[in-house]
Amino acid sequence: MNSALEPAHEPGPVTAEAPSNIAFIKYWGARDLEGDSEGPVPFNRSLSMTLDACRSICSASPLPEGSDDEIHWVQEPAGGRSSAAEEAPPAFVERTKRHLDRLREWSRQTAAPYAGGFRIATGNTFPSAAGIASSASGFTALTLAASACMGFDLTPRMLSALSRSSGSGSAARSAWGGYVEWPDGDGNAAVQILDERAWELCDLVAVVETGAKKVSSRDGHRRATSSPYFAPRLAALDGRLERVRSALCGRDFEALGDAVEEEGIDLHLIAMSSRPPVYYWSPGTIEVLAAVRELRADGVAAYATMDAGANVHVICQPADAGQVEERLVALGSVERVLRDRTGGPPVWRGGAEL
Ligand code: PMV
Repeated sequence: MNSALEPAHEPGPVTAEAPSNIAFIKYWGARDLEGDSEGPVPFNRSLSMTLDACRSICSASPLPEGSDDEIHWVQEPAGGRSSAAEEAPPAFVERTKRHLDRLREWSRQTAAPYAGGFRIATGNTFPSAAGIASSASGFTALTLAASACMGFDLTPRMLSALSRSSGSGSAARSAWGGYVEWPDGDGNAAVQILDERAWELCDLVAVVETGAKKVSSRDGHRRATSSPYFAPRLAALDGRLERVRSALCGRDFEALGDAVEEEGIDLHLIAMSSRPPVYYWSPGTIEVLAAVRELRADGVAAYATMDAGANVHVICQPADAGQVEERLVALGSVERVLRDRTGGPPVWRGGAEL
């Protein structure tokens, strides 16, 4: 019996949208970051909330066999519609083309190997490389767009594993909406633990820096094990993950926030004590962290977490979002606040919109 994956529709131009995610328990440190393996193997399980407004939009169109892939970058496309495609930065083009090669290679194991090129136009609805997991949404959108353009309908599990093969571990978690854990049992893909309707939370991203970070998360992952605090971190993580899981399942916001903020600081403790050290924080980060503590002192349940960047994700419940946003926008170092919340899974539709 031939069990190769069959295409579900005709190849053709498509547009995919994939959400970013904010990790409540972080993936930091990996075993296999090099080469063209199946993707990084993390030292610990991570757990994230999928976002709604912060997303990547990617159009893919087939090009004839023998064509070079064309990669265009679209600055913060609004609602998926923009025709202002620009030439993308060389490093981005190279990483994107490598992933397209991987996807063509993957298609060779299916019933419809694809040997053509792609025209890709992609962008994020939020600032890239600033600690808002643009690689997670970006590679998930690219994987979904290219696979749909080749004629395939991937299951979320397949999308998760293929997106992770890009080298971005957090991309494994953007294949689902709601709350997602990676890796699941066999290590390849992520798994949804609660869907987006189970509990709506807000993520107000206080943007204190919009430039690209100076040390990539890949380098941060590489350096993590050099921190003397890495082993104690791993030892503490099972317990912290369990606290997050049970707070989510029991809808206990204070217990969740407590564990999430502790974890957000822990990632940076490891980064700052790695050799050589990595400092992602800026003075604005400290100002926002202080404001979040003040909000709590005033009785507002708000908790902070940061990925590999200076910007601060402030997690709160929908009823408090207005008050939290008001406090954040009033801070001198906050350029703007992106208002986001628990989001659904990636989607695609026919037609190249970018
Ligand atoms: O997905 P990567 O390989 O770029 O790693 C990013 C890891 C963090 O965003 C810092 C944490 C996480 O779990 O998302």
